[in-house]
Amino acid sequence: ALKKKTVDERLLSICELLEANVAYYNWVGFYFKNGDKDELKLGPYVGAPTDHTIIPFGKGICGQVAVSNKNFVVPDVSAQDNYIACSISVKAEIVVPIFINGDNIGQIDIDSNTPDPFTEDDERFLEYVCKQVAKLIDEENYMLTF
Ligand code: SME
Repeated sequence: ALKKKTVDERLLSICELLEANVAYYNWVGFYFKNGDKDELKLGPYVGAPTDHTIIPFGKGICGQVAVSNKNFVVPDVSAQDNYIACSISVKAEIVVPIFINGDNIGQIDIDSNTPDPFTEDDERFLEYVCKQVAKLIDEENYMLTF
């Protein structure tokens, strides 16, 4: 029988697709604002498990994007002082925020084991992915109000 995928299942599929198809996307995951708290909570992801399932706003690359509302491209993570290391194999990171009605509700976070791999094409592509993610979350939230 056909079973409708949940939002988390869809988000996991997106992570799997990105990790499998882009050689330099080695850890792909979503973080979302944790209710009313000023912190991020880890959502679906693929790659090495991380201890950083909760990240306070302002902390690390992810926490900085939660407050800046801007893409953060890190060509060399070792050059960042406000950085949370998840794995020693990670060389670079990109974080792109997700907006619903102008509110920053979360982000996609991608780690790369390749130094300086991310271009503006990655930013444009991931902004597009984040827009689609915003739509599916917004539609789900809308459905839940009935
Ligand atoms: N490196 C991130 C933490 C999350 S891990 O990459 C999965 C940061 O500095 O916010």
